Amino acid sequence: MFPGLRWRLLLSYLTVMAAILSIFGAGVYVFFSRSMYSQLDKKLRTLAQAATPSFTQVKAKGSTYVNQVDTVPWRDIFNHDSQSLEWFDNQGKLLARRGTIDLEFPLKLGSWTFPNKKTHVPVRAYTVSVFTDSSLDRPEGFIRASQSLEEIETIKNQLFWVLIFGGMSTLILIGLGGFWLTRKAIEPIEESFSKLKQFTADASHELRGPVTAIKASVDVMQCHPERIHPKDAKKLAAISSATTQMGQLIGDLLFLARTDNATDVPSRKRTTIALDRIIQDIVVLLEPMAQEKNITFKYQLMPNIYAFGDKSELNRLFSNLIENALQYTPSGGKVNVSLTKHNRFALVNVEDSGIGIAPEQIPFVFDRFWRADKARTRREGGTGLGLAIANAIAQNNGGKITLTSQVNKGSCFQVRIPVLAQKVEIKPRPV
Ligand SMILES: Nc1ncnc2c1ncn2[C@@H]1O[C@H](COP(=O)(O)OP(=O)(O)O)[C@@H](O)[C@H]1O
Ligand SMILES: [Mg+2]
Repeated sequence: MFPGLRWRLLLSYLTVMAAILSIFGAGVYVFFSRSMYSQLDKKLRTLAQAATPSFTQVKAKGSTYVNQVDTVPWRDIFNHDSQSLEWFDNQGKLLARRGTIDLEFPLKLGSWTFPNKKTHVPVRAYTVSVFTDSSLDRPEGFIRASQSLEEIETIKNQLFWVLIFGGMSTLILIGLGGFWLTRKAIEPIEESFSKLKQFTADASHELRGPVTAIKASVDVMQCHPERIHPKDAKKLAAISSATTQMGQLIGDLLFLARTDNATDVPSRKRTTIALDRIIQDIVVLLEPMAQEKNITFKYQLMPNIYAFGDKSELNRLFSNLIENALQYTPSGGKVNVSLTKHNRFALVNVEDSGIGIAPEQIPFVFDRFWRADKARTRREGGTGLGLAIANAIAQNNGGKITLTSQVNKGSCFQVRIPVLAQKVEIKPRPV
């Protein structure tokens, strides 16, 4: 139970951490990308603005002016290899161009990114309007500065991989730390849980003696009814029944505590068991109960199916289920028990046409002390531990119990336990 819990805790911890790291990484990536773009935009705007004074000259002389590299005012900030400057008249007609990027982009004011089909590296462009005469409200032309995004794309790519590898290494370190932390966190819970189990085991063990003594005394008293005052006879019968019930409850608790390994499990007497025989014995024993309730009780048991286990445990497992089926089926109903074999498993179906269990309650039926009847009346007898015990026994034998049920239609408990390939006789060793 605890190793599973530890892994689940670690997994949840890692999922939360991975989510936080992803959000953080995505934030860093977006922040740096945006700041690189805004820096580039600033650079391009400055370049375009620096070229504005040359607009009149360019308009007059065209490319000849632009090619006089020594005289142009923007020569110091212009990078000929990755940037481009273009002059347009107010109709959007290209007047001159300087630089390596010679693509036909639509003219749009402000900053824009355009795809470049030639190099597949997008281009960032910044366009400003040129006003040479402040009295005019229409621009006289436009200047566009553009730069290839190759450098930014490379940095973004590097940043992406640094964040991915950084995130993964951090997650591995968090996983290692989390493994240690979850172990530390679960230790006290594990300790108190084992103390609780030990307490249940000790308490039920200690209670067994006094309860047995009370029961024995009451039985002795009941053997001599002439000595009992008639007014006390009923009270004595109530004490006897309550003591029997308490003894049963203590026995069930002790059994569960032992299967939890809280105390030393008295070595089980594992033998080869013919499942049809063990089930038939239970059916014979419970037939009077079915007759009393007017329940049609049927069984089909495939012979020669053997399991290896403790006879009294398996007996308890099947009788708990069959008893429940009879208990929770109203008179006139049906209970069917079948034993079949599928691959290497024996399948025992205990089917009834009883009150059924609501779908939302099915996950809890194997919990200790769980009863559909919230008032926990003892009208039907039992302690609320029957199914928990049956489940523990099935698991101890490498099997499991599954339940399908419909309210007011009936339930089917299916026990699946591994079978022996062939009957093995275990002979007692000679002393
Ligand atoms: N065959 C069944 N049909 C309907 N309800 C059932 C059946 N078997 C068990 N239950 C429900 O599961 C609860 C737990 O069963 P169990 O552990 O045997 O305790 P108990 O029988 O002592 O109440 C029962 O109280 C009952 O509500
Ligand atoms: Mg029961």
